[in-house]
This record gives sequence, C-alpha cells and structure tokens, in this order.
Amino acid sequence: MLLFPTLFLLGILPWIALCADDFYKLLGIEKDASDREIKRAYRTLSKKFHPDKNPNDESAHAKFVSIAEAYDALIDPETRRIYDQYGHDGLKQHQQGGGRGGQHHDPFDLFSRFFGGSGHFGHGGGERRGHNMEVRISIPLRDFYNGAETEFTIEKQAICSACEGSGSKDGAVETCNVCGGRGMRVQKHMLAPGIFQQVQSMCDACGGKGKTIKHPCPVCGGARVVREPETHQLHVERGMPKGVRITYENEADESPDWVAGDLIVQLQELEPKMESGDALKLDGNFFRRRGRDLFWREVLSLREAWMGDWERNVTHLDGHVVRLGRDRGDVVQPGMVEIVKGEGMPIWDREEQEGDEDEFGALHVEYVVVLPDQMETGMEKEFWSTWEKWRKKHGVDLHKDSGRPAPKSHDEL
Ligand SMILES: *[C@@H]1O[C@H](CO)[C@@H](O)[C@H](O)[C@H]1NC(C)=O
Ligand SMILES: [Zn+2]
Ligand SMILES: [Zn+2]
Repeated sequence: MLLFPTLFLLGILPWIALCADDFYKLLGIEKDASDREIKRAYRTLSKKFHPDKNPNDESAHAKFVSIAEAYDALIDPETRRIYDQYGHDGLKQHQQGGGRGGQHHDPFDLFSRFFGGSGHFGHGGGERRGHNMEVRISIPLRDFYNGAETEFTIEKQAICSACEGSGSKDGAVETCNVCGGRGMRVQKHMLAPGIFQQVQSMCDACGGKGKTIKHPCPVCGGARVVREPETHQLHVERGMPKGVRITYENEADESPDWVAGDLIVQLQELEPKMESGDALKLDGNFFRRRGRDLFWREVLSLREAWMGDWERNVTHLDGHVVRLGRDRGDVVQPGMVEIVKGEGMPIWDREEQEGDEDEFGALHVEYVVVLPDQMETGMEKEFWSTWEKWRKKHGVDLHKDSGRPAPKSHDEL
C-alpha cells in the first residue's frame, strides 16, 4: 500500500520539471502565438530580467538566459515544430545532431540584436545611447476617466531582423581592403616639388565603416536597419492627468551601433467631436476637464429655471447617471454653477496628496437659461395679461421678491 503513492510521485515529478520550463509559459504567450507576439514577449521580459537591472540576483540572470533560449527555440519554425511535438528532449537531440535552424545566441548577443549596442543597458558603461523619441497620443476623456487598455502603433528605425543587423545576406562581413578597416584614407598631394600635403578623407570603398559586404541583405539592402511599424500596449490609469509621460525603455530608434533610447509617450486629450451622432452631444454638451474637476453645461427652459419642477439624467463618462433637478418653486438663476461633489475625475495621485480622502473631484454644472424666441399668439396674450394684472396691482419689486439684501434700485419686473 505504501508503494503506490511513491510510484505516483515518481511518475509525476518529471512532468512538473518539464512544465516549469515550458517555453510558452516562460514567455507568457499562447501555444498559437504569432512571431510578433513572441518578439513582443521577448522585448518585454528580457528588459525586465536583464542582469544590469537586477544586480546580484541569480534567479533573474537565470531567467534572462531561459527567456533567450525560449525565444531562439520558438522563433525558428523548424525548432518550434520539434519543440511542440517532442518537447525539450526532442529539441536537445535535434541540436546535438547538428540540426540547422534555431541557432543559439549568446543571451546578451540576442539582446543586442533587439536593442542595439553590446547587449547592456549602457547606463554608466560608457556605451553610446540613441536619442529618446517623444510621441503624443490622444485619447478620449472617457479613457482618462475609466482607465483603458489600448495600443498604439508608431514607425521607427529597427534593426533588420532578416540579417540580424549585419547587413549581409550570408552573414559574411569582411574588413575593407582599401582602408584596412580604419574607415579613413590618407592621401598625399604634392603642392610643390618636394612639398606634400596629407589629406585624410573617408574611405569611399566602405563608406567609412571599415567593413564591406559582398552580398547585401535583400531586406535592408545592407543598411542593417529598416523602418517598420511597431505596436505597443498602452495602459491608461484612471484619472491620469493630461500631458502625463509614460516611458517605454529602449523602444526608440534602434541601431546596431548604439543602445536604443527610450520612447516617451505623452497623453493628450482627444477633442470631442461635435458632429458625432451621439444623442448626448447633440447640443454640443460634453464633459470638459480641468485637473480633477469636470465641467458640464445644462440648458434649462425659462419655465424650468423660474418655476422649478424639472429633472435631468446626465449620463456620466462610465455610463452611470447623475440626477439633477429642482422641486416646484425652486428657482435657478441663469449662469448659476452647481457643484456636485464626487462626480469629477478619479484622483490619480492620492498617495502623494497627504490627508486627501477624496476619491473623486467635483462636477461643476453651469446652468444656461434660454428664453423663448416666439410664443403662440394665445400664450403670449395670456402671459401679457397676467403681467399686466399683477403689475397694476402691486408693481412687483424684483429685489424684494428675490429675497436679496440691500436693494440698489427699484426695477420693475
Ligand atoms: C431619470 O432616471 C430615473 C431612474 O432611472 C427615472 O425614474 C426618471 O424618470 C428619469 N428621468 C428622466 C427625466 O429621464
Ligand atoms: Zn538586413
Ligand atoms: Zn574602407
């Protein structure tokens, strides 16, 4: 009876070991991930676990190496097929048998093929760094309010993946035999008999690179870089301020000659579209933002402003309804601003604002009152006679009626 659980454990252990190393899990991708997704996963994870970022952390280093291994295995169709079918063991056999494809890169070398330079981050190492790139992305106010997971695409200079940045079709790069690899030529000109001038100029045989390529890469034409679009995930946090900058490390233009700089995304607010068929915006009403507060303009008829007894359901940016209204007899003056607490923007930097308990800013509702341009004749007559009646009776005093203190004059209504 005791044997059984032991056998069971023995049977399951290798499976657990295999599972822990699963290349797909390691990269956090699905079995049917595209090459793009594999590359994206590598880009993200290799930066996260790079030893330069995790000094003295052995497990991060090991992970960095495994990620490179997983990438190499999955990006090559042949080794990916073998891995899918036979797993790690099959892949090992294939590599020992000298199978082509899935060539193993040194993990730092692989890193440099993505981000340029020598495979390090170039902070302090004296390594050249490319320029930072700054882009502006406009998103609707709704996304600032609710938060959003979205993506954007920008075009940038990328290391050619066909030749892995060598510029050569077959990988062969030779030292220029004209300049001997210096990239410069020194020529002597005779100015007068016996008097020479030495002129240094760029070697035109190799374009100053010191290296020549017999068979240029057909994709980049030997330039080693290509322009291509790249899609990034954009995580908008609730209540992020307008103009906030989000940094994507090492995602600016790439070159084999330097470490890519950072891509900096500045979030802007997309102007609301007046012509949109959205019923809520038909009269040009939409939320505007200033800091943590929102602003809304509500239109009231003369009757509503004056007599009260009205209701509005304003649909907020996440769809919830803010109810506005007055009872009968409750007057709203034109231009009056009502402040509704807790219906503004979510507050993003709450931790930094000490003692601030609010989760949301306020909503400022400005009331606009429209007087009727025209009235039906009968209606106009009735109003007129009502006014006449009361005017003759009392002579209505605006200030007394409004209940305001210290009247300055006696305007007649
Ligand atoms: C506003 O919403 C409430 C609750 O859903 C509803 O009872 C009321 O009739 C609505 N008022 C207007 C003016 O649409
Ligand atoms: Zn190329
Ligand atoms: Zn040369």
